[in-house]
Amino acid sequence: MTQAREAVRRALACVDEPAYLALDDGARLPQTAGPAVVTRMLERLEVEPGHRVLEIGTGSGFTAAVLSRLVRPGGHITSIDIDARLTARAAKLLDSDGCRNVRLVTGDGTRWVPDSRYDRVIAWVAPVRVPDVWVRQAVPGAVLVSPVHLAPLARAMAVVRLRRGPTPDRLAADLLMPGGFSEARPEPHDHWPVPSYGVDALTRDAAGRMWWVAAEWLRAHEPAVGMRLLELMITDGWHTAWPVPGERGADLHAYLMAARPDGLTTAALGAQGWGAGYSQPDGVALVGPADDLFVAGAPAAAERLDRWAREWRERGRPGMADLEPRLHRRGSGWDVRAVVP
Ligand SMILES: C[S@@+](CC[C@H](N)C(=O)[O-])C[C@H]1O[C@@H](n2cnc3c(N)ncnc32)[C@H](O)[C@@H]1O
Repeated sequence: MTQAREAVRRALACVDEPAYLALDDGARLPQTAGPAVVTRMLERLEVEPGHRVLEIGTGSGFTAAVLSRLVRPGGHITSIDIDARLTARAAKLLDSDGCRNVRLVTGDGTRWVPDSRYDRVIAWVAPVRVPDVWVRQAVPGAVLVSPVHLAPLARAMAVVRLRRGPTPDRLAADLLMPGGFSEARPEPHDHWPVPSYGVDALTRDAAGRMWWVAAEWLRAHEPAVGMRLLELMITDGWHTAWPVPGERGADLHAYLMAARPDGLTTAALGAQGWGAGYSQPDGVALVGPADDLFVAGAPAAAERLDRWAREWRERGRPGMADLEPRLHRRGSGWDVRAVVP
């Protein structure tokens, strides 16, 4: 691990990130994941010289440039993006950066990838489930790192590490890490204001800010129920301090995604980012983006979230890194779920 960390550190230091991210008009290409998440994912991928790496989500070409260095000498990168404008742009940048071992391809990397044998697979967009096509083209022993959903709710996400066994049906997951990404899309998109997966009701407030809510119980109801809940959140919702200072909302989010209690909810709160917690038709209580508490409507909602938080404390306040991943075969891929050990 120390060796992998050192190799990633050296490769990152060699790449001029602003050159990849700067657009002609001076703006920056939007990156969903912060540098700490990108670094951690590259370290956990355990890339070595000579490896053949498949990357899904070329974007600016920055991570392809880092990978290009990590596999030298002898290795090569195949990087795929849904957006032909991005692959064309990245091709030029990588060429002028001397990265001759990178092949760029345009397409939906969750459905198709160029025929080859890959030692490593890394995705920077979240598929609905880990697609078979990645596992089939990976060699026995290959490592795969990808963002995934831990529950069928928007933003209920983590990054998983997988290892392929001797045959493609032998896949094992050994690690979960925190990390939020946009969802893989079937076509290019200029903006990602709304998650493309797991949103149950969506609206904008008077200032045009986006609010959405995701909860499995909503799926059994008329759309009007979700819209009324959003109205309640916009008109009646308020933020307050989390009752126990120092507790990390992200850890409670992770625990709830693993425990999957009835009523588990994720929601976007206008300009205030997003939160996770509990909802029922007449109330919501969420751990908000700044480790705060967001409540609207019936006090029973806040009482339920408080009960969940007490259970979480009793179990030692586990966060994402304490959870264990489990794989479930589903359709043409693998669902990843988490359990509290
Ligand atoms: C977070 S960005 C990638 C950032 C990139 N690694 C970098 O260094 O700039 C995610 C990328 O995934 C692409 N994408 C979205 N859906 C996709 C899909 N189905 N297949 C391949 N790429 C996809 C987007 O166009 C976007 O460029």
